[in-house]
Amino acid sequence: MEALTNLPHDVVRVGVVGMNYWGPNLARNFDRLPQTDLAWCCDLDEAVLDRHRDHYPNTTFTTNLDDLLADDALDAVVVATSVPTHAALATRALEAGKHTFVEKPLAVKAEDGRRVAALAAEKGLTLMVDHLLVYHPGVEKLKSLIDDGSLGRVYYLYGNRQNLGIVRPDENALWSLGPHDISVMLWLVGEEPVEVSATGESYLQPGVEDVVFGRVRFASGVIGHLHLSWLDPHKMRKMTVIGSDKMAVFDDMESERKVTLFDKGPVPRTESYGEYIQVRSGDIHIPKIPVTEPLRLVCEEFARAVATGAPTRADGRAGATVVEVLEAMTTSLKNQGAPVAITGKGAA
Ligand SMILES: NC(=O)c1ccc[n+]([C@@H]2O[C@H](COP(=O)([O-])OP(=O)(O)OC[C@H]3O[C@@H](n4cnc5c(N)ncnc54)[C@H](O)[C@@H]3O)[C@@H](O)[C@H]2O)c1
Repeated sequence: MEALTNLPHDVVRVGVVGMNYWGPNLARNFDRLPQTDLAWCCDLDEAVLDRHRDHYPNTTFTTNLDDLLADDALDAVVVATSVPTHAALATRALEAGKHTFVEKPLAVKAEDGRRVAALAAEKGLTLMVDHLLVYHPGVEKLKSLIDDGSLGRVYYLYGNRQNLGIVRPDENALWSLGPHDISVMLWLVGEEPVEVSATGESYLQPGVEDVVFGRVRFASGVIGHLHLSWLDPHKMRKMTVIGSDKMAVFDDMESERKVTLFDKGPVPRTESYGEYIQVRSGDIHIPKIPVTEPLRLVCEEFARAVATGAPTRADGRAGATVVEVLEAMTTSLKNQGAPVAITGKGAA
């Protein structure tokens, strides 16, 4: 790891806020990494904290976030509370001068996401959002296949995130499942989206969509499509990218074939006008993908950014743009799929 030039001590001291279901995964990683120290665990609920005290004997436990904010030796706050609290807690942490990591999505409203991203920029502090999948080695492979030109020109891509899974009463399938695929799509394409739309239905609970079909349009003509559902017989966690030369699939349900590269595509037309377009179906290649817990890579990048000021790929700007897409898709859902422009103001 690089020298901790921005810090007075030799490890990044981290406090995790929200220790119920997901927060403990972050606490575990920050505790185990050699470059970080899990200094604090915080939750409003004592009973939640009691479940973890024995695991972290050198960590201080509290029900009050102010204790973390008042600790001058604490470098960073990790917000793993329920979604509606993210923007307000991140704001408090940044205002107290702490580098801040926020679970996805950064905020519920695009304007709040933008405000938090702008505050971090103004204070010169790292703000990172847990867009976990953009750190997945399989998704990284997709990105390198796109960037090194292996796929040719990217035409379109689509994500499948389906299951017969947890039916949430307070969040629809778009907000619960969408941040993953939207963040991956934006990172893979490497452009700001210009327009989105979404349709969906609430079959199990009134007003809470169980299935959502979303569409993202980019200025270059690339189209992204999302199928998000917890009411489906297939457990799917896939992203497929169609290029002019090759096609690639990331499938997180596969253990040994996380990425498959298909040498398939149209044959460039050299013959005269009016000919049928020929297609080519060549080899199928399965590259080796390292097995590393993506959350560990996320935590490592956050620690590196805090320590050195290095940029992160899931920064406040990316977080705010994902919220803007979610918000615009929500508007579209309410208007039977009418397209909604993305203004680009998701960026800080
Ligand atoms: N990246 C991923 O793959 C992934 C997976 C699951 C959940 N998540 C995210 O993790 C976050 C937490 O999810 P969860 O299922 O654990 O939520 P949860 O609602 O079960 O738990 C949240 C905890 O935060 C605590 N809390 C709320 N406000 C607080 C405050 N002001 N101070 C201290 N503690 C406070 C609550 O007491 C609760 O124990 C959510 O944002 C969710 O979207 C991410």
